[in-house]
Amino acid sequence: MSKSIKVGLLGLGTVGTGVYKVLTQNAEIIAQRVGTPVTVEKIVVNNVNKKRDIDLPPGIITDRAEAVLDNPDIDIVVEVMGGIEPAREYILKALRGGKHVVTANKDLIAEYGEELFDAEKEHHTDLFFEASVAGGIPIIRPLKQCLAANRVTEVMGIINGTTNFILTKMTQEGSDFDEVLAEAQALGYAEADPTADVDGLDAARKIAILASVAFNTRVTYRDVYVEGIRNIGAMDIKYASELGYTVKLLGIAKDQDGQVEVRVHPVLIPNSHPLAAVNEAFNAIFVRGNAVGETMFYGPGAGELPTASAVVADIIEVARNIISSVTGRISCTCYEQRAIKPIGEIFSKYYLRLIVKDEPGVLASIASVLGNQNVSIATVIQKRSIEDLAEIVLITHQVQEQNLQDALAVIKGMSITKEIANVIRVEGEDE
Ligand code: NAP
Ligand code: HSE
Repeated sequence: MSKSIKVGLLGLGTVGTGVYKVLTQNAEIIAQRVGTPVTVEKIVVNNVNKKRDIDLPPGIITDRAEAVLDNPDIDIVVEVMGGIEPAREYILKALRGGKHVVTANKDLIAEYGEELFDAEKEHHTDLFFEASVAGGIPIIRPLKQCLAANRVTEVMGIINGTTNFILTKMTQEGSDFDEVLAEAQALGYAEADPTADVDGLDAARKIAILASVAFNTRVTYRDVYVEGIRNIGAMDIKYASELGYTVKLLGIAKDQDGQVEVRVHPVLIPNSHPLAAVNEAFNAIFVRGNAVGETMFYGPGAGELPTASAVVADIIEVARNIISSVTGRISCTCYEQRAIKPIGEIFSKYYLRLIVKDEPGVLASIASVLGNQNVSIATVIQKRSIEDLAEIVLITHQVQEQNLQDALAVIKGMSITKEIANVIRVEGEDE
C-alpha cells in the first residue's frame, strides 16, 4: 500500500461528526477500496471546549484553521462548517495550496461556485460537493458521470426535507400550515427559524447547483424564481386530492430551447407521478435524459450518517484520484453560457382558487377574462358557499404565465371578486 491519505476536517457538527464516525468505523473497508488507509489528522472547530459525543484522539481538535490549511501532511480538506465566510476563504486557501477539497456547503457552491471551480482548475485539484444537494442521495456524480451520455432535459426534485415533512403531515392530518410547522419544530424536523426551508431558499440553492450540473451552464441561487409553502392551505390540499393531485414543494430545472428554466415553488403533481409518493422528510430527484428516459433518485436528504455517506464517498473518490495521479480530471462542467428564462415566459397548467360573489353570470365573467388572455379552462368546480360568496376551483390548460398573471390582475379588480385565495402551478403531466 502507498502512504496513507490524510484528511483535515473543518467542522465537527452534525455532518463532521458523521464523517469522523464513518471514516473510523468503516476504516478497513475504505482502505481496501482506496488501496491505502484514509485517516483524520486534524479537526478545526469554533469552540474547543464544547463537549463532543465521540471519542477522539488527544490533540486532534483545534480552533486554528492553519493547523489544517498550512499542514503539509494533509491531502484532503473537508469543509463541513457551513455558511459563506470563512468557509469560502478556507476552501480557496486549500485549493491554492494544492489541497483537494470536499464540501457539503450548498450556500457556498450556489453563490461562489464559479470562483471556487476556477481555483480548482488552476491548481489541478479536486473539489467535490456531492452532499451539498439532497444529503445522502447520489445525484451530482450520477449527473456528471453515469448520465454523461445524455442531454438532460429536466431535473425536478423534492430537495427540502422540512417542507416535505410539513406538506405530508398537512395532507395526512388535514391541518393548516402553522399548526404543522409548530409540530415539526417540536419534533426537531424544522428549525426554530424555519425561513430558509419554508420560504424555499434552501431548495433554491440546491436546484441552482443541480441546474448548473445538468445543463452545463453556471446557475446561481439568484437566478432561481422562488415561492415557499406558507400560503398553502388545508383546503388547497383537500381540493388537489379530490382532483387527483398531491401538493409538493419542487425544485424544477428545464432545458427550454437552449434557455434554462429554474424555479422553486409549490406544485400540484398527479398522484400517479413517482414524486407524489415521496413522503415525510425524504427527498427524491426525477431526471429526464434523452437516452435514458425517466430516472428517479430517492433517499434521506439530510442527517448525520446519510450526509456523511455522501461526503466520505467524495473523500474516497479524491483519494483514488490521488493514488492514480489523476486529480483534476473532471473539474467544472459548465462549458456553456445559457440565458435564464424569465418566469413570465414559462408555460404551465394552473390551479386557481377564487372567492367570488355567488350570483348569476359570475363564472361567465371570469371565463371571459381568462379567455381574453388565451387562458383556456380544463376543469371548474364550485366548492363551498360561504354566506353570499362562492368558492370556485379551476384548473387551466397549458398557458403562458404572463397571460395568466394579466388575467388575474383584471379578475382581482372586478367587483365580483372577494379574493384570489391561491394560484398553484401544476407539473408532471403532459397536455
Ligand atoms: P453544524 O452542526 O452547525 O456544525 C458546524 C461545525 O462547524 C461545528 O463543529 C462548528 O464548531 C464548526 N464551525 C462553525 N463555524 C466555524 C468557524 N468559523 N471556524 C471553525 N469551525 C467552525 O452544521 P452541520 O449541520 O454539520 O452542516 C455543515 C454543512 O453541511 C453546512 O454547509 C450544511 O448546509 C451542510 N449540510 C448539512 C446537512 C445536515 O443534515 N445537517 C445535510 C446536507 C448538507 P463548534 O462545534 O465548535 O460549534
Ligand atoms: N434543511 C434541509 C432540509 C437539510 O430540510 O432538507 C439540509 O440541507
